[in-house]
Amino acid sequence: MEKKEEPECSCAEVDDSSKDEFQELLRTLEQRVNWDGLPLVKYCGCWLLVMLFRPIIAAQNHFKAKDTDIILTTMPKSGTTWLKALTFSIANRNVFPIDQSPLLTSNPHMLVPFLELNIYKEQDNPDLETIPSPRIFSTHMHFKMLPDSIRETDCRIIYICRNPLDQLVSHIHFSSQNNFGKDADPVAIDEAFDMFCQGINSFGPFWDHVLGYWNAHLENPGKVLFLKYEDLKEDITSQVKKIAEFMGFPFSLEEEEQGMIDQISGLCSFESLSNLTVNKRGDINGILKNSSFFRKGQVGDWTNYLTPAMAERIKKLMDSKFEGSGLMFNT
Ligand code: A3P
Repeated sequence: MEKKEEPECSCAEVDDSSKDEFQELLRTLEQRVNWDGLPLVKYCGCWLLVMLFRPIIAAQNHFKAKDTDIILTTMPKSGTTWLKALTFSIANRNVFPIDQSPLLTSNPHMLVPFLELNIYKEQDNPDLETIPSPRIFSTHMHFKMLPDSIRETDCRIIYICRNPLDQLVSHIHFSSQNNFGKDADPVAIDEAFDMFCQGINSFGPFWDHVLGYWNAHLENPGKVLFLKYEDLKEDITSQVKKIAEFMGFPFSLEEEEQGMIDQISGLCSFESLSNLTVNKRGDINGILKNSSFFRKGQVGDWTNYLTPAMAERIKKLMDSKFEGSGLMFNT
């Protein structure tokens, strides 16, 4: 069958109620196997995991954002787990004292669900009205793919990204820890790297993902907060303050004096979360090991896996893709 021209992000017009129509659309789109063995489909210029295509369309068609919602957006392996723990703790600091935080007994992904991996994977049009405000959701969707209501309401978007070298290395480990693609031929790291540079990886191209949110942030900084993993590693206190202010829950002077920011940062730190029994042992839906979300939590671990020539290629790509945008990464 001839491949269709990609729709110009008319994604929300796809009818997810007819399984046949949906399968027909899927058949017309370009598909590849990701370097970790998981099937990908190219839609609106983005490479999506085939298993998440239908939930993404369902979310686009049915998700109704509220002004009070907080939407966390990320490429996989960019600090999603950390951001979920921090925003959950900031929003609920008057509900749960730190020593009774649900984070002590639940993985952050159980407390802040993904639209496409959880909510719309389980049901096409779930009732989310009863969730108390502020509702916090997360997604790996590109900015241009977000459900319209997220852009049209006053809900706030917090984006976190990470330098592409560490993001890729982290993803490779995550896939292997969870045994993705166990039936596929193993792919060497340089092949995975090459596909990444071509933009072929889950939720790639990396550049488009990051630039989409960067430009949205420049256009409306009150709507989109743009964070970098490396900045959180460097100075968590100022970043937690910034996140809380952006969320509309700034710390009072009294809270600051009582050390609330340090308590939240400490609870959500890699050392603290990765040592909890729940994160050492459990799993999510029997598929993803909780421990696989906590590996090293360092900046620059890519140097142990990628060559200087690979780093140079990424640097050149960043220079050309981000030229004139004002965006850059410290690797
Ligand atoms: P590494 O594989 O480099 O260690 P995500 O949460 O988006 O899936 O990203 C996972 C990456 O974030 C992993 O990186 C993981 O170790 C790191 N990470 C998870 N929790 C963290 C935390 N509380 N602080 C810092 N890094 C964290």
